[in-house]
Amino acid sequence: MEFYCKDFKVGKCQGQKLVDGHTMPLVLQPSEPHNGDLDSLLGALKRNKDWFDELIIKNSAVLLRGFDVKKAEDFNDIIETFGWDDIRYVGPAPRTHIYKRVWTANEGPLSEFIYYHHEMVLIKEFPKKVVLFCEIPPPEGGETPFVPSFKVTERMLEEFPQEVEDIDTKGLKYTFSAPSNNNTSSMRGRGWEDAFGTSDPAEAERRAKALGMDMEWLPNGGVKTILGPRPLTRVFEGRKGRRMWFNTVVGMHGKEVSSAMMADGSEIPEKFVKRCEQIIEEESIQFKWEAGDVLFLDNYALLHGRRPSLPPRKVLVATCK
Ligand SMILES: [Fe+2]
Repeated sequence: MEFYCKDFKVGKCQGQKLVDGHTMPLVLQPSEPHNGDLDSLLGALKRNKDWFDELIIKNSAVLLRGFDVKKAEDFNDIIETFGWDDIRYVGPAPRTHIYKRVWTANEGPLSEFIYYHHEMVLIKEFPKKVVLFCEIPPPEGGETPFVPSFKVTERMLEEFPQEVEDIDTKGLKYTFSAPSNNNTSSMRGRGWEDAFGTSDPAEAERRAKALGMDMEWLPNGGVKTILGPRPLTRVFEGRKGRRMWFNTVVGMHGKEVSSAMMADGSEIPEKFVKRCEQIIEEESIQFKWEAGDVLFLDNYALLHGRRPSLPPRKVLVATCK
């Protein structure tokens, strides 16, 4: 049986898909209409912690809907119920700390599409779970689409068996350039000071090293970070031996501020990248945010992104070990 818990009722949402027998996202609603208040929800989560944890792994995405979750403090209470450790965000997205474990998801312009990624895929330690809370749903667009990563590997293996194994064996090398000061006019324009949490270049280098990156300073005061070798696919414990598409080749290949190539310096074929982009889009799952939604994503198993949106849109995030 896919589901049993007397504290929740399984609901439906537009856009959900059945992947390998499991619904994504699995929608959980109050068991009875009068159980939708925050205290009832916190109680239900506390009683079913282990079960809920397993559910996130089994279904990869679980959506709490119909509960009275109104603000960052409520969301923080939900996160703290589980006792998962916090993991500090490192990356290009401009984020603002809101309350305890809660941050804004990304303050880059709403008109930009944030390309699919596993959260902090290039960093040595990345979150196991990405949890998102919708405080203000966008009037149009602004979905958070996600993609079962193993499906991408499966389909790429069907079409490019040789290339996939070749790149996976050699590994990948990425570069990424950051300017010297904060500029949130583009989500890719975050300054290195902000990204590394220091304005001291020597300290930034130390922190970069600790994260597994090399740095080259640019004449304009910016920095080029070099990462690699990194894998193309990864297998994580407890995920059925699935090979996850744990890379950011499509997002970084051939861009103005970033690149992706094989670790030995050879180029990744353009048609490999283009086709992969199509496959990722074809496999994507998306639903429409509603106020109070809380979405739990298994970051080992899913890529996620953000579609362009009309304002206002307020989605908050907590990343957990
Ligand atoms: Fe993200």
